[in-house]
Amino acid sequence: MKPIVLYGDPVLREKAKPVEKIDQAVKNLVAQMTATLKNAKGLGLAAPQVGEPIRIFILDLSAVDLTESVRVFINPEIMETSGEILMEEGCLSFPGIYQKIVRPERVKMKATGLDGKIFTVHAGGILARAMLHEFDHLEGKLFIDYFSPVSRALLRGKLKRLATAL
Ligand code: NI
Repeated sequence: MKPIVLYGDPVLREKAKPVEKIDQAVKNLVAQMTATLKNAKGLGLAAPQVGEPIRIFILDLSAVDLTESVRVFINPEIMETSGEILMEEGCLSFPGIYQKIVRPERVKMKATGLDGKIFTVHAGGILARAMLHEFDHLEGKLFIDYFSPVSRALLRGKLKRLATAL
C-alpha cells in the first residue's frame, strides 16, 4: 500500500504525464494503488493521489455494484460527454468532505488497460461520475473547484485544517 496524499500537497495540482510503457514499475504501482483503494474502501484512486503524477487511475465500484471489479485506466481520453446531473461526491484526498456537484451525466472514454489494449467505455450513473472525478485528478483538477462560493466558504475551516495537517 501507499499513503494517500491529502489536499494541500502540490502533487494534486500537477498535470500528470502520459505513461510511455506499461512496464513492471507501472504494474507494481497499479497493484499498490489497488491495495490502497481497497484498504481505504474508496470507489476510485488516481496515481497523483499516491504521489505519482502519471496518467493512471483505477476504479472499484464493487461496493455499489456486485458485477463490478477493479478497472484500470491508463492514458485515458474523454471522447464525448452529454447531459448534466447533480450528484454527491467525496474524495480520498479530502476525508470527511462530501458535496453535491454538477457534472456531465454520461461520458465516453478511451483508455489503455494493464494488458496494453485500448478500450472504450460508455458510462452513465455512478460509473460516469467516478470516471470524470478521477480523470480530473490527472489534470490537477479537484472536486472542490466545482463547489459554489457559498459551500466553499462553509468548508473553509475544514479545508484549511486538511492543508495544514501535512
Ligand atoms: Ni478524488
